[in-house]
Amino acid sequence: MKGLILSGGKGTRLRPLTFTQAKQLVPVANKPVLFYGIEALNEAGIEDIGIIVGDTKDEIKEAVGDGSRWGIRIAYIEQEAPLGLAHAVKISEDFLGKEPFVMYLGDNILKSGIKSLVEEFKEKEPNSLILLTEVPNPQMFGVAELKDGKVVKLVEKPKEPMSNLALVGVYMFDYHVFEAVNAIKPSWRDELEITDAIQYLVDKGYNVHPHLVTGWWKDTGKIEDILEANLLILETISSQIDGEVDESSKINGQVILEKGVVVKNSIIRGPAIIGSDTEIIDSYIGPFTSIQKGCKIIRTEIEHSIVLEGSEIQDVGSRIDDSLVGREVKIYKCPPKPSVYRFMVGDKSEIGIK
Ligand code: TTP
Repeated sequence: MKGLILSGGKGTRLRPLTFTQAKQLVPVANKPVLFYGIEALNEAGIEDIGIIVGDTKDEIKEAVGDGSRWGIRIAYIEQEAPLGLAHAVKISEDFLGKEPFVMYLGDNILKSGIKSLVEEFKEKEPNSLILLTEVPNPQMFGVAELKDGKVVKLVEKPKEPMSNLALVGVYMFDYHVFEAVNAIKPSWRDELEITDAIQYLVDKGYNVHPHLVTGWWKDTGKIEDILEANLLILETISSQIDGEVDESSKINGQVILEKGVVVKNSIIRGPAIIGSDTEIIDSYIGPFTSIQKGCKIIRTEIEHSIVLEGSEIQDVGSRIDDSLVGREVKIYKCPPKPSVYRFMVGDKSEIGIK
């Protein structure tokens, strides 16, 4: 069985971060989202993975490499433009050949991994296995209608959803999917939709097997979802203190301090992770916070947030909450006179002040 991870796309919902970074490399608990997918496939015994890349290909290749760090083989498949999930399958036919494969959206994280699903696929040998989960807002997702335990209809972001079962970003197919992706036409948004390809399989009488996911699943396409995924992953960590903590600091709960971290006169209340060589001084780091390497947090309170590498936050008067701070950002207090805010903020940034 092979793997196909989709790591192209536009990432418009994560601007401004995606102006300068691939969204699949945004870290969750200090690890790129994409690595969770690679590791899930690896854990399910898949050793040949093709990664679909677009404009951000260089950055993705540099971060991921040839797969040897996981003991697997990774090939890159370039997609000329984000022409849809089914288009990504279409251009991967040479790589996939006649082998069944798992298609995994590179910005998704699934709590329970995919090992048992791969086993189910191998055992039952359907032409396709799709993952579904109950959601409160199905109009935001690809939605499936089931009848007698079988998939009968799939619609992308329906205005009037016929069920609350959303498609999770993991799919399994055998080679018949190529017949589907070569037959379907682009949708109104000019993409080859995977829902149309699966509908084609259903209509032609191929066996599309639904599997209901019970553990959590996150698509990290938006900031709230990244923060939520960060929370869910941090809930599972165990303490490991490789940094220095002075006597006037307190570390409570599950906290990871990587090498070279310095904590002075501060409180860190886990679960939280602090990346290598970051300094935390006279500060409070609250639960569900991930701070990457080389940051400085000084006289600041922050919780339920993610701070990317090389950023400095100093003397912020109120607690920072629910925030995602990019790389090498500086947030600091202005001198008392004149009493002003001073911004140098990139396009499509968002700042909340009280
Ligand atoms: P989406 O999140 O649906 O699309 P997007 O990345 O363009 O984001 P936005 O809606 O914010 O503009 O894509 C899901 C995953 O699939 C993501 O990892 C990007 C990837 N993808 C491709 O590799 N090729 C494609 O043609 C598309 C549409 C997505």
